Amino acid sequence: MKRRRFVSGSAALAAATVVSPAFVGPAFAAASVKPITWDLSPPTDTRENFIAWGKNRGEDAVFLGERWDRFQALLKNKDIWSAPTIRSFLLTPREEFAAVNPAIHKRAYEHNFLDIGYGVTMSGPHLQGRMTNVLDIKRTDKVLEIGTGSGVQSAYIANLTDNAYTIEIIKPLADRTRGIYDKLIEKGYTEFQHIKTKQADGYYGWEEAAPFDKIIVTCGIDHVPPPLLQQLKSGGLMVIPVGPPGAQRVIKIAKTQGADGSITTSREDIYGGKIVPFVPFTKLEGDKIVGSHNR
Ligand SMILES: C[S@@+](CC[C@H](N)C(=O)[O-])C[C@H]1O[C@@H](n2cnc3c(N)ncnc32)[C@H](O)[C@@H]1O
Repeated sequence: MKRRRFVSGSAALAAATVVSPAFVGPAFAAASVKPITWDLSPPTDTRENFIAWGKNRGEDAVFLGERWDRFQALLKNKDIWSAPTIRSFLLTPREEFAAVNPAIHKRAYEHNFLDIGYGVTMSGPHLQGRMTNVLDIKRTDKVLEIGTGSGVQSAYIANLTDNAYTIEIIKPLADRTRGIYDKLIEKGYTEFQHIKTKQADGYYGWEEAAPFDKIIVTCGIDHVPPPLLQQLKSGGLMVIPVGPPGAQRVIKIAKTQGADGSITTSREDIYGGKIVPFVPFTKLEGDKIVGSHNR
């Protein structure tokens, strides 16, 4: 099967230090949407029915159409396949997370990663779809994301479980995204109340909330951070881009812990060996970002 190249962050963006403009704050329309409940799902039979359903919820018809079209592309490319993940993709207003940068707002449903400022990116929908779906997130799962970024990845997770945690290292970005969740909750996207946010160096995980059933890492590193593996439950899954700078492979790790405490892992490349470059897994020293955690 021929696949288009899709990456989470360009080398140029990844190489940039944290100096790019913060862009504007969230620019939302005042309109509100009807809150969703776990028993409700949007129709998946036709584009028209999906748009009508979303419009009735209070969303924009143009973005709903683009969401549907991207969903069809995700299905075709086998980047999304399970009913709960499909539901979460169809419910998540990706455009609201792209609204921080006027230059990308209308491009929210494009295939590629997009520049959200601070030298980092919002990962593309195909990559997010596949990384989310391989985790097979259940309603009861506690899920940790490393690299909040735009916030859209944890928004997908919030439509799969009410127990989502996300860590972002860049303080103003973490604050801006927290603000987006708060605005969206106010607007009626009450599912985003499921997301706990924190600004910190995600290398060390979220000790107080551990252990986690699932962990998703959205920045690239040359090894699996031992604290994250430690904080993953026995029987849990992690998806993480591992490899040298700009040349990671996206690996799914399944952890099993024996009665004697010994940890066994099995690994699977979710792209069959294809390189998918990510922005770097950076390191916090005091309150400064200094280099990366690569060894
Ligand atoms: C590809 S970007 C954003 C991905 C995000 N999930 C999204 O779709 O917008 C990766 C993010 O990881 C963050 N990051 C890098 N190193 C980190 C660390 N040590 N701890 C937490 N976040 C980190 C970056 O600042 C960036 O926002």
